[in-house]
Amino acid sequence: MDSDQRHMVRALELARLGAGRTSPNPMVGAVVVVDDEVVAEGWHESYGAPHAEAKALESAGSTARGSTLYCNLEPCCHRTPDKRTPPCTEKIIDAGVSRVVFAVYDPNPHVAGLGEQALKQAGISVTYGVLRDEASLLNEPFFAWIQRSVPYVHLKIAATLDGRIASRDGSSHWISGEQSRIEVHRLRSKYDAVMVGAGTMISDDPSLTVRHVEGRNPARIIVDSGLRAVPGSRMASDDAAPVYVLCTREAEIRRGGELAGTKVKLITCPTDASGHIDLFVAMQEIGRRGITSILVEGGRGLATAMIRRHLVDRLSVYTNPSLMGAGVEWLGDIGVEGAESRPHLRCVTTRTVGEDVLVTGLIDPARTYGSLRAPGEGRAFDQMAGVLCLQD
Ligand SMILES: NC(=O)c1ccc[n+]([C@@H]2O[C@H](COP(=O)([O-])OP(=O)(O)OC[C@H]3O[C@@H](n4cnc5c(N)ncnc54)[C@H](OP(=O)(O)O)[C@@H]3O)[C@@H](O)[C@H]2O)c1
Repeated sequence: MDSDQRHMVRALELARLGAGRTSPNPMVGAVVVVDDEVVAEGWHESYGAPHAEAKALESAGSTARGSTLYCNLEPCCHRTPDKRTPPCTEKIIDAGVSRVVFAVYDPNPHVAGLGEQALKQAGISVTYGVLRDEASLLNEPFFAWIQRSVPYVHLKIAATLDGRIASRDGSSHWISGEQSRIEVHRLRSKYDAVMVGAGTMISDDPSLTVRHVEGRNPARIIVDSGLRAVPGSRMASDDAAPVYVLCTREAEIRRGGELAGTKVKLITCPTDASGHIDLFVAMQEIGRRGITSILVEGGRGLATAMIRRHLVDRLSVYTNPSLMGAGVEWLGDIGVEGAESRPHLRCVTTRTVGEDVLVTGLIDPARTYGSLRAPGEGRAFDQMAGVLCLQD
């Protein structure tokens, strides 16, 4: 590992300290280096807080003059009405930094190569691409959301060896082992929102909060077209995190009153040919609210509809070495006719988690490659192909 890589590893470590708190911004870390020695560090702690580069430069003070600044993302260079912090490029130039090393371009159209350009125009030497894949992986959901305006979706399933997610009576508690459950709670805390369907609400009445590990609670999103599940649920009256319910306008008129006095927010959506809410429109509505990433936790109806509509980026199945026989399978008809046309996961990893086996990979090339390679995306987006072969 050369010295640039070593300092970028540190920048990535710092960036990760903001996990779960920076959205809809990316996680960024920065290191100020003089004569191969780190003189200051910073990271973006939360949305609205100073950027990593600004924090590191502030702590470096006058030692930043002539230094090299390492950051995992191209420094920002823009001012927009909704932006809470000044451009980092100006701070870098003012501080007298002589070289900037960054890992990936920022696909935000306000930056996308312009940050690099501003630095070069000021006579700063710029190196791009150090640990590019690692940096792409770190902010995979942000990169996906900023380009598509719909959230990055990770579908997580816990199933038995015979592919069941619940028993015949509908109960699904303790399908996976303890280690997997802890891991899923950690995963929850990293996503902006967790989503389940009406069926799961009715059978399990889950709270979808983060327990077993430290972390913030994600927002809860319930697909409940007819508002048959959320009124009267535990979630409707707790304050643990925001609750968004996707329902039809008709359901809002008919049953919305039952949620009066609660903090539940209804998002009305049109229905599609199946009579359920149109999940694609729903994803656009959610993305518009600044929710960049969703962990979908079932059940069968929602998982099937999301895959069928090409709305899932990553699929993770935790398989427990047990059998259910009769019971709820995790997936229904996703429109596959012959075996040859079945979708294959890409960039797959398999590992054991306690007693379970986790298989995780990217599910839908149409969703990722299609949106990342639109005409005119240009250089800043070429690197995104690398993102597609990485995991959480
Ligand atoms: N082991 C696990 O990982 C796990 C996780 C979660 C749940 N579960 C189990 O799974 C079972 C629940 O599964 P489920 O299938 O009954 O419920 P579900 O998936 O939680 O709910 C069905 C949802 O799918 C929606 N839906 C169905 N077809 C759709 C389409 N074409 N377009 C849009 N939305 C569509 C329904 O919409 P409407 O809004 O129109 O009703 C409903 O919200 C429970 O037994 C639960 O315990 C297991």
